[in-house]
Amino acid sequence: MIPGFKVTPWEVSGELVDYNELISLFGLDILTTEVRNLFREVFGEEHYLISRGIFYAHRFLRLALLDIAYGRANVYIFTGRGASGQMHIGHLLPITLAKWMQEKRNLEFFFQISDDEKFVLRPDLSLKDVRGYALDNALDFIALGFDERRTHIIWDTEVSSWLYPLSLKLAKEVSLSELKSLLKIDDSWNVGISFYPAVQAAPALMMELLTGKPHRAIIPMAVDQDPMIRISILLADKLDLRKPGIIHSKFLLGLKGEPKMGTRYSESAIFLTDSPEKVKDKIEKSACSSPRRCPSLSYLRAFDPDDESFFSIWELCFENPEEGCKAAKKRAKEILVPFIEEHQARRREMSDKIGDFLLRELPTSLEGF
Ligand code: TRP
Repeated sequence: MIPGFKVTPWEVSGELVDYNELISLFGLDILTTEVRNLFREVFGEEHYLISRGIFYAHRFLRLALLDIAYGRANVYIFTGRGASGQMHIGHLLPITLAKWMQEKRNLEFFFQISDDEKFVLRPDLSLKDVRGYALDNALDFIALGFDERRTHIIWDTEVSSWLYPLSLKLAKEVSLSELKSLLKIDDSWNVGISFYPAVQAAPALMMELLTGKPHRAIIPMAVDQDPMIRISILLADKLDLRKPGIIHSKFLLGLKGEPKMGTRYSESAIFLTDSPEKVKDKIEKSACSSPRRCPSLSYLRAFDPDDESFFSIWELCFENPEEGCKAAKKRAKEILVPFIEEHQARRREMSDKIGDFLLRELPTSLEGF
């Protein structure tokens, strides 16, 4: 066990994260060969983010996969992003898997941008700040290239006309003691933070709740969100709804080898809006103390789809760390610089398209609430 690390929906700290320990701390299920095989059967192949162990744990994923396989319920994808700053490449992990699943099985995809969450959580951010980030993040999201008919952005403060009543319906079912025990918050936290988990549970449950027909969300997300999304599992139990199937990812390393790339320090992250020169420079200057803490290797693991290339560099990093590090940085630049260039070009093209993706109205009505 690695001592002194902490992972919560609000904070990740420590030298390294012990991901196995998190499985027992949170009570997650391991992605067994059986579940991986089922995943492969349902989606036709295995995504490298799973075979390389970046997505590594789950809750109720088997149920969601069987729903798709047997057509037992209408499965849709849900994930999100807290609008606390500009987006960096670490934020792309759940979105990448979501996009791939959407394309393979033609699934609806709801992407939540929680500017409300970051406003109540962060004393240093104004409502204007978080709404500005939300718009900026929405643009980064759509620049990744989605089918607007099946992809819906839930920008919390912008779609409150339907999201607020839905969240109220859910908030009413959760007691303060349940919230405190699941989220480990105490009496010093503000009441905005205590309401927010109901807002994040809403898209996870809304389709079945609103239509009364079998629906289930499948949620790819970083493992730190687990305590938060457990509120939706609790609610599913109480309201007799299908529980979301969740698949949890590890984090991308920060440029200094920190266990999680962060938004707060611009020198820790490669932002989607960094200039190509800046990206090159950041990779060149990144710190690499061992293969387990090599930022470039962690980026290749997440973004180099070519198994042969990734594993040959990975082996070299263990055999000859110095050469390995050079090769990893070189390849990371080859992959990330063109990606960032193309991303920014698409961002410019898409700048007036956000309205096409925004879920202004509910997919169905609130009657019967
Ligand atoms: N709370 C998440 C964060 O702080 C953002 C988020 C909103 C989210 N809705 C979600 C994450 C749904 C996963 C699934 O980053």
